[in-house]
Amino acid sequence: MTATTDSADGVMIESLDHEGRGIAHADGKVIFIEGALTGERVTYSTYRKKPSYEQAQVSQILKPSFMRTEPRCPHFGVCGGCSMQHLEARAQVAAKQRVLEDNLERIGKTGAEVILPPIYGQTWGYRQRARLSVRHVLKKGKTLVGFREKNGKYVADMRYCEILTPRIAGLLPLLGELNESFAIRDALPQIEVAVGEHVDVLVLRILQALSPSDEASIRQFADTHKVQFWLQSKGPETAVPFYPLDAPPLTYSLPEFGITLPFAPTEFTQVNSAMNRLMVSRALRLLDPRSGERIADFFCGLGNFTLPIARSGAQVVGVEGSAALVRRAEQNAACNGLAANTQFVAMNLFEIDWAALAQLGHFDKMLIDPPRDGAIELVKALGADAPRRIVYVSCNPATLARDAAVLVHQKGYALKAAGVLNMFPHTSHVESLAVFDLY
Ligand SMILES: C[S@@+](CC[C@H](N)C(=O)[O-])C[C@H]1O[C@@H](n2cnc3c(N)ncnc32)[C@H](O)[C@@H]1O
Repeated sequence: MTATTDSADGVMIESLDHEGRGIAHADGKVIFIEGALTGERVTYSTYRKKPSYEQAQVSQILKPSFMRTEPRCPHFGVCGGCSMQHLEARAQVAAKQRVLEDNLERIGKTGAEVILPPIYGQTWGYRQRARLSVRHVLKKGKTLVGFREKNGKYVADMRYCEILTPRIAGLLPLLGELNESFAIRDALPQIEVAVGEHVDVLVLRILQALSPSDEASIRQFADTHKVQFWLQSKGPETAVPFYPLDAPPLTYSLPEFGITLPFAPTEFTQVNSAMNRLMVSRALRLLDPRSGERIADFFCGLGNFTLPIARSGAQVVGVEGSAALVRRAEQNAACNGLAANTQFVAMNLFEIDWAALAQLGHFDKMLIDPPRDGAIELVKALGADAPRRIVYVSCNPATLARDAAVLVHQKGYALKAAGVLNMFPHTSHVESLAVFDLY
C-alpha cells in the first residue's frame, strides 16, 4: 500500500460510485475513497495511483454524514461480502436508485418516464444462498469458513455473518471445527449453502474421498444441527446427497401464485427469497400477462417467472442456457399443473440472432432476466415482429443501460418505468426492473 495522506482540510465527497465508494476530486484527479459517504469531508490514504484517478481508504472523517451508521458486523471493512454497512439502509436504496438513473443517463442516454418506488425488505439475515470459502490456516491453528476478504486472497476470520440466514450464520465456526477434524481438511475448499423451506443443505466440495471417520463426523454434525450434507467431487452436476438421505427436497414457494419450486442446491435460485416474492409480484404486475397472449421468459432458470406468468393462462416459452435448468423448469411446470401452457427451450442467448429468435415465433410480451453480462445479442436480434412490452429484470445497471440504449434508440421502445429492489442489502449490488413499451 503506497499511503499518501492528503491535506489536513480533506476532500469533500460528491457522490457514491457503483461499488459504494465515495467520489471526490483532488489535484485534477478523481479519488475513489472506500468508507466515505456523500456529503462527508474526509482525509484518505491512497493505495493505488493512476494518472487520472486514485483508489484510497478513508483515514479520518472530518465531517460525518447524517446518514452514517455504525456497521453491525465486526468484519466490516475486511470481509468482501458487504461494503455499505456504514450507510443507513434506506439511504443505501436511495444511493442504488441514483446508480440506476445515472447509468441509464450516462450509458443509455435515456431515462425512465416514471421511477418506480423502491422495494425494501428485511436488511439482515436475508441471504439463503452462499458460496463459502474454507481454508485450514496453519498459523491460526484452525479452519476459517466464510466469505473472502476484500483483497480476494484470504478467507475472512468470521464467527458470524449478519446477512446470512441466522441458522447458517451460527454454524460458521462449527463448520470450521468440523473441517479441522477431517483427514482431508486441506482438500475441502468450498461449502455451498442452500436454505430451503423444509431443509438446509450444505454442499461440501471435496477434492479427495472422505475417510470413514470424516463421514462419521459429518453424520453427527448433520444430526446435531439439522442440516443435510451433499458431496460434490467435480463440477456442479456431480453434487449428490450424502446424509441424511431421507431429508425433504429443497423448495421455495411463491404463495401469491400458488407455486412451489423444487431445486437442487447447485442450481441457480435467487439468494433472497422474501425479496424474490416481491420482485416476481412486481414484474408480473408490470408485464400484466393475459390468457390468450404468447409470452417469452428469457434466461428463465428453473421457471421463477415462467410459472407465475403461466398461471395467468398465457402461453409461455421459457428459454435458458443450462440444459439441467431447462429439465428442472419442465418438472416444476408439471408439478405445479402448468405443463400445458409452458414450453422450455435450451439455447445460448449470448449467441442468439434475428433468425434464431424468429424461429421461436411471435411473442406479445417478453420478460428478460439475464446474468450480469446483460442481453445485448437478444435485444439486437429483435426485428419487425418485436413484442409490444418488455419487462427487463437486471442485476447490473451498466448492462441494463447499454441494452436500454439499443431498445430505445434503435428498436423503437419507450422506457416507461424503472426502479430498484434492495435484493442485497449492505452490498453495492443493484437489482432493478425496467419496462419498455413499443411506441
Ligand atoms: C439472473 S439468472 C435468472 C434465472 C431466473 N429468471 C430466476 O429468476 O431464477 C440468469 C439465468 O441466465 C442463465 N444464463 C446464463 N448465461 C446464459 C446464456 N448464455 N444463455 C442462456 N441462459 C444463460 C443462467 O443459467 C441463469 O439461469
